[in-house]
This record gives sequence, C-alpha cells and structure tokens, in this order.
Amino acid sequence: MTYRIAVIAGDGIGPEVIAEGIKAIEALTTLQEKGIQFEFVHLPWGCEYYLREGRMMPEDGMDVLREFDAIYLGAVGYPGVPDHVSLWDLLLIIRKQFDQYINLRPIRLLNGAPTVLKEGTVDNIQMTFIRENTEGEYAGAGEWLYRGQPQEVALQTGVFSRHGTERVMRYAFELARREKKTLTSISKGNALQYSMVFWDELFEEIAKDYPDVTTYSYLVDAAAMHMINDPGRFEIVVTSNLFGDIMTDIGAAIAGGMGLAAGANINPERAFPSMFEPVHGSAPDIAGQGKANPLAAIWSASQMLDHFDLTDEGAVLIQAIEHLLVEGEVLTPDLGGDGSTSEVGNRIAQLIQTIQ
Ligand code: NAI
Ligand code: MG
Repeated sequence: MTYRIAVIAGDGIGPEVIAEGIKAIEALTTLQEKGIQFEFVHLPWGCEYYLREGRMMPEDGMDVLREFDAIYLGAVGYPGVPDHVSLWDLLLIIRKQFDQYINLRPIRLLNGAPTVLKEGTVDNIQMTFIRENTEGEYAGAGEWLYRGQPQEVALQTGVFSRHGTERVMRYAFELARREKKTLTSISKGNALQYSMVFWDELFEEIAKDYPDVTTYSYLVDAAAMHMINDPGRFEIVVTSNLFGDIMTDIGAAIAGGMGLAAGANINPERAFPSMFEPVHGSAPDIAGQGKANPLAAIWSASQMLDHFDLTDEGAVLIQAIEHLLVEGEVLTPDLGGDGSTSEVGNRIAQLIQTIQ
C-alpha cells in the first residue's frame, strides 16, 4: 500500500518545516513493517512560481492534485505578491474545489508546551475546533462598486447554505458523540439576524438527532473572553469560517503559540484529497535562518496519518513532540531554545524511533 502525497512546501519557512514533517513520517519504521509506504511528490508552486509564471500553480494544477491521496502544504505568501492573490489562487481554490469543508484544528496544550494563560493546564486546554471551510464569510461573494469614487461601496456577503451548514454541524456532532465530549457552537445571532440566526436554528434542529451530546451555544465575543478566562468549558467546538479563523488564533496563542498550531482541511467523503498544513504563514522575518519551529508541520503530519486511519502512528508523532517539549533540550527560539529547525526535526526522528 502506497500513499501518494503532493507536497506544496510553498514559500518562506514552508519548505524548511515541511522537510522535518517528512523526516518524521519517514522515521516511522512501523509503517514499513505494515507494508505501508509514503511517496512524496514535490510541486514547486507558490509565490516564486508566480513571479516566473504569472500564476500560483499551473493551469492544470487542480487535475494534477486530484490524483494524490493527500496534500501536505507548508505556507504560501511572500512580499512582492499581494496576499489576496497568493491566498485565493492556491489555498482557497484547493479548499473549495476539493470540498474540504472541515477545517480541523486541535487546540491542545501538550505536556511541556508553554501557555500565556496563568491558569492554563494540559487538563483545561483540550479542545478541537471544527471550522466551516468552504462558505460563510469567506465565500468570496460580493461586489466593489464605484471604485475610487466618492460614492465607493464594498459589499462582502456571507453565504450560509443549509447543505453547507448542516454538514459541518453533523460532522461536529458525530465527533462529539464518538469522543463523548460536549459540543459548543459559536455564532453571533444577536447582530447577524439572517446568517447567524439561521446557524443557531440549524444547530438546535440537528441537536435533536444527538440527544446524547451535551451542547452549548455562545456569542463569538463572549466565547473569545471565555477562551481566556475559562478555556476548560470548551471541548468540541463548531463555528463559521471567519469566527473559526479568529478563535483558533486565540487558541494557538494559549496552546503553545504559532509554532505548535496545526490544521487539517478535510473532505470527509474522500472524494478529493484532503490537505494538511501548519496554521502559520511563510514568516518572511525568519525565513532562511533555520529558526522556524517545525512542530506545527509535524503535528499536521500526524493529522494526515490519522486521516489514513494510521492513528497509532499519528499518536507516536504527538508523543515525540511532547517528549521533546518536556526534555526541553532542543527547541527553536520561539520556544526559548537555540536549536535549529533541522536539529528539532532530527531529535523528533530519534524520539519516534525509540517510542514506536
Ligand atoms: P506568519 O504566521 O507567517 O508569521 C507571524 C509571526 O509568527 C512572525 O513573527 C513569524 O516569525 C512567527 N512564526 C510563524 N510561524 C513560525 C514558526 N513555525 N516558528 C517560529 N515562528 C513562527 O504570519 P504573517 O507574518 O502574517 O504572514 C506572512 C505571510 O504568510 C503572508 O504573505 C501571509 O499571507 C502568509 N500566510 C500564509 C498562510 C498559509 O499559507 N496558510 C497562513 C498565514 C499567513
Ligand atoms: Mg488564519
């Protein structure tokens, strides 16, 4: 059995951290014992490609990607290419066209990881955020009228379909049921009287099918406060595209920082490849210096293993990260160490070999 992975390492620190994620998977000798192989195919797309070719990926890029079992992505975006171009013409196209409607972001404080919360612990920071990933506020619907004129108007429309909203909620309810956890919906029905009232009504409607799941519903502003004051009240969380984007950055801040934030873009039906990526960007300020923390990319690799039902191997990667954090000897500068990206990756590979 061979899993074929399209690697879009991308720009800035993307290639630096992705190399360490691949190293981690290749250190898993249990895969070889099971007769499972990973084949990584590097696709040199992103901003450098854009500056040469005038586009972020080749014209047939999506057809190329479709043939793979998954996509492993570093980061795209670099000074010289407008961010809305690099984001829309690669990442958002892949998320939408491959119907990766689940953005799964673990907000878990690992043993040994730092938190900015005085009362944050590995027990009370244990969340899984499920962010709607294809529509909502990021549907790309809108209009820019009278550009540059005094009566200029910009409209950005949120798109909340019954189909799109229901499927992300059902995914969240199923996960909460499976893991015997509570499910919290985050919305804003008081101010957004169409989209978010619709969201809240659907959440209540679907909850009737899951009487075993305890639910909560918060307004996004209150939820932002609770994330800081009382993170323990969140277990599984389902929310819209924009709110999820913002709330998971708060999550990253309380659960070890950007260097430890991982995300998966999942097409649960497996009709298309899913995509696994660290949450952070290309970090031009530290690119090329060996300072990037590869742990988020390694955590994303663990999510990819989980997606292929290689959950034992996925867990080994997380254990290796925890072990590294607890021993605290080889860490990148963002975590207070003076280790380099590849030194951290090498130590992780060693730990994987001893743990598995
Ligand atoms: P960023 O995440 O690249 O960097 C924010 C800050 O966090 C920087 O100070 C950076 O040095 C630090 N940082 C990020 N990742 C780190 C890591 N692994 N280890 C240590 N420190 C790390 O966000 P920023 O600066 O807003 O964006 C830079 C570029 O990345 C832009 O072009 C943006 O559009 C793009 N971007 C791409 C994303 C993606 O591909 N998914 C996501 C976010 C931004
Ligand atoms: Mg973001």
